Amino acid sequence: MTTAKLILDGQEYDLPIITGSEGEVALDISKLRAATGGVITLDVGYGNTGSCQSAITFINGEEGVLRYRGYNIEDLAENASFVEVSYLLVYGHLPTQEELNRFRHRLTYHSLLHEDMKKFFEGYAPSAHPMTVLSAMVASLSTYYPDSDEEEVIDQNIIRLLAKLKTIAAFSYKKSIGQAYVYPQNDLGYIADFMHMMFAVPSETYEVRESVRDALDMLLILHADHEQNCSASTVRMVGSSAANLFTSISAGINALAGALHGGANQAVIQQLEMIQADDGNAQKYIDKAKDKSDDFRLMGFGHRVYKNFDPRAKIIKKTADRVLDELGVNDPLLDIAKHLEKTALEDEYFIERRLYPNVDFYSGILYRAMGIPTNMFTVLFAMGRLPGWIAQWKEMRADKSRIHRPRQIYVGENERPYIPIEER
Ligand code: CMC
Repeated sequence: MTTAKLILDGQEYDLPIITGSEGEVALDISKLRAATGGVITLDVGYGNTGSCQSAITFINGEEGVLRYRGYNIEDLAENASFVEVSYLLVYGHLPTQEELNRFRHRLTYHSLLHEDMKKFFEGYAPSAHPMTVLSAMVASLSTYYPDSDEEEVIDQNIIRLLAKLKTIAAFSYKKSIGQAYVYPQNDLGYIADFMHMMFAVPSETYEVRESVRDALDMLLILHADHEQNCSASTVRMVGSSAANLFTSISAGINALAGALHGGANQAVIQQLEMIQADDGNAQKYIDKAKDKSDDFRLMGFGHRVYKNFDPRAKIIKKTADRVLDELGVNDPLLDIAKHLEKTALEDEYFIERRLYPNVDFYSGILYRAMGIPTNMFTVLFAMGRLPGWIAQWKEMRADKSRIHRPRQIYVGENERPYIPIEER
């Protein structure tokens, strides 16, 4: 199969067929408009449209498969560290020990923020959502670290961004609760350093709990990339205009913040709390989610790509049981979530539409058990997704991608004369 035939008004057109390394098939329509004198395709929400060819992440949503650079997510979650996975995504291969040591060293020695940046935090309203602060601070990095086409400078900016995001995240939290900023500490690893900046106070010593550190490390691995989702596509879209790394990623952070995307992890907990306050009546909320006259959706359920269990949700559910047990946390929301999941999975509406729990359904319960406040959940998602966004941005640049500029089908008024105001 090398071409497909399209017949339009009796005229035949050959469309080349592109096949991916996992046998995925696409019709190449890049010459369609020119060849047909103006015909385009219409695919609202891009459910059937490939925006690029990519060698980063493979998903088979029918079978619940997720791989970064060919490695199964289950293998990476079990055996790798987040820093190692970040290297894999950004540079395309698993690092040797020497490469990993150098990468860790660079991430450690670029984690401080320019002191002037601390003043920015002072300017935000105390109620500011940390995702908005995160996005603004990442865009601000471009005022300190100049844009360049030189690969070495770009690589240095990539390292800066990876190293500083956790400092920005922790500082925005400290500001929101009125505590002193805790500076990065070079003798701590990536995740332990973040926990220290989040939870330590100057007046006492803080011990990083290894089981929490490891669970957080694994959660970030599970979030590290997810091919052409809304935020990754935003990063590529913005970057395609030749916008710099920081501003492209800042746009991705804003896309992630929405409740239908990364913001769902916060919304899930708020929904579970609502059900708890309503005597744990899960059925009532399942009925609301099914009611087409009601906008209510079961947050943490459904996915554009997965029509089977989300492999990330499976791993998180198992880990939630273990970590809560280890920490001696008895969270009634976990029981409500399990009951809600079971009831939904037995319901014809959810079965027919193949709606399963996604990555956000159980992650919030883990974050809560770790002491992370609800409005920081999506920030954690952003920290995890950062290497994926960087990899997508780098690949887009290396492919010398054209500026992203979709077409439209205009359905507005036809030409009409301007009406002077006194005649309207
Ligand atoms: N609760 C109730 N019904 C749902 C849900 C839900 N959570 N999700 C989808 N449906 C229904 C939807 O109403 C539609 O029904 P019908 O065919 O009768 O019109 C059908 O299932 C297909 O849904 P869709 O809206 O066409 O699916 P989509 O691919 O456009 O949207 C989604 C995917 C994730 C935005 C959606 O499932 C949703 O809103 N879920 C809740 C929010 C959420 O958990 N988001 C996190 C996604 S995973 C993390 C990430 O990658 O961002």
